[in-house]
Amino acid sequence: MKSSDKQWEKYGSKDPYFGVLSSDKYRFNNLDNDAYLDFFKSGNDDLKIIISNIQKYLDASFEPRQSLDFGCGVGRILIPLAKNSLHVVGLDISESMLAEAQRNCELNHLQNIELIKSDDEFSGVAGRKFNFIHSFIVFQHISPKRGEKILQNMLDHLESHGVGVLHFTYYREATPMEKVKEWVNRYLPLVHNLRNLFKGKEFDYPLMQMHQYDLNRLFFILQKRNIHKIYIEMSNHGGYMGVILYFQMIGLTHSPRK
Ligand SMILES: C[S@@+](CC[C@H](N)C(=O)[O-])C[C@H]1O[C@@H](n2cnc3c(N)ncnc32)[C@H](O)[C@@H]1O
Repeated sequence: MKSSDKQWEKYGSKDPYFGVLSSDKYRFNNLDNDAYLDFFKSGNDDLKIIISNIQKYLDASFEPRQSLDFGCGVGRILIPLAKNSLHVVGLDISESMLAEAQRNCELNHLQNIELIKSDDEFSGVAGRKFNFIHSFIVFQHISPKRGEKILQNMLDHLESHGVGVLHFTYYREATPMEKVKEWVNRYLPLVHNLRNLFKGKEFDYPLMQMHQYDLNRLFFILQKRNIHKIYIEMSNHGGYMGVILYFQMIGLTHSPRK
């Protein structure tokens, strides 16, 4: 098991909602009913914007039917997506996150959701195609070398005219001091663990890995798969600069403009 996968399992079992959205109100000990409702409202709002952008910039008649949410967490976006799709699959590396997602699906009386433990080969959905593939704030936690392979495998599951909406971070805007702190936390785990104690957290409270992707390489992967048009929305989560790539798999065998 990769180190980031172990950390996600810890987040899933210790603090799943905070692992998804790092705001104090979503910490295990603070999560009251209002915070819980607010958490899922954010997923609902995100999905509305996503569908509206797809229809505005890619395909006016697009509706998600068979949907895949990669790194679904506790179901923040998966659950509203299920209410707008015939069938959805939620993939996640953490079994505890999936167990919490299962509880949330049951609370919502949803029966069109399949939750599957993810692997990089997508073996849980082997041979299946989707007309909508989505992933938000997930690739940023996966090393780019591994994430690029995951992206390539994921594209095998997008049907012709299917739409992908994928989020990647590409740049960290940080002061030299913040960069040093990140380096120390990542490469000197004991220091990170001692800082946990100092902050009143458990000694082994997991560190969230953050990575930046090379956009040239991502565009190359997409273009090689006959994706010729991308709508991009920029994101900035506390200095982690990112892009949400919206694209449609059009089955052209040549580039529209050479
Ligand atoms: C920050 S949460 C985002 C959850 C969800 N996408 C959302 O927006 O609410 C990141 C999720 O990605 C999952 N994850 C991390 N690495 C993964 C991997 N290699 N494969 C699948 N899921 C992964 C984590 O377990 C976690 O549930």
